[in-house]
Amino acid sequence: MELIVTDNYQALSQIGAEMIAGVIRAQPDAAVVLPTGDTPMGMYRELAERKRRGELDASNLRVFQLDEYLGITPDDPRSLYGWLARSLFEPLGIPDANVVRLPGDAEDQVAACRAYDQVVEAAGGFDLVVLGLGPNGHLGFNEPPADSHAPTRLVDLSEASIESSARYWGDKNLVPCQAVTAGMVQLLGARRILLVVSGAHKREILHQTIAGPVTPNVPSSYLQRVSNITVIADRDAWPSKRDE
Ligand code: GLP
Repeated sequence: MELIVTDNYQALSQIGAEMIAGVIRAQPDAAVVLPTGDTPMGMYRELAERKRRGELDASNLRVFQLDEYLGITPDDPRSLYGWLARSLFEPLGIPDANVVRLPGDAEDQVAACRAYDQVVEAAGGFDLVVLGLGPNGHLGFNEPPADSHAPTRLVDLSEASIESSARYWGDKNLVPCQAVTAGMVQLLGARRILLVVSGAHKREILHQTIAGPVTPNVPSSYLQRVSNITVIADRDAWPSKRDE
């Protein structure tokens, strides 16, 4: 595991964006997972800036959705797909046809999740998975306890995740109680993983992720077992000894 600690969020965003841009340049049609959440937004703004300057062409990228609330249509203001469309697909010029959705509004969730995993398999797995860190160590919406072999599936959201999501939508009651998430086995099997973590509120869970025991109770701790992972954390999330 490679750990890069930056002085602040801006530096985290620049380094993360450069890493993603490097993958896109090396393999323009890479199969990638890109998350929602507050943490990656700075990277997405950096990538959009590179596109505006004519330095990046992401139009052939294949993007797989990481997670989605259950029962939410793409035009619902809370849709995680919609969030990605506004913050990433539109500014980077990634066509809809290149995006593999996790349809939270599908009638048969079991079939929809199986279909998603089949597309991942047909793509030969993920080339790059970018992840944020949930307050309880969830990856996507792989809530604890999560088996490292768990496939893409429907999950009940924990109280911690509902509380954390409430800040996006302003009210806890607006957060659906269930979600679909890309599976642990698909995420952990990626050829490359980038975990981005910012802020003092992530300090404890980042420590457990990197230095705690590997346990289903902290799904992110499984990242210790993969060799191809880079963690970028800002100083607030990973203080140096003298700050602790
Ligand atoms: C959310 C999402 C994750 C996200 C994580 C961190 O609940 N399910 O996909 O990466 O929690 O979010 P943030 O970056 O806003 O802290």
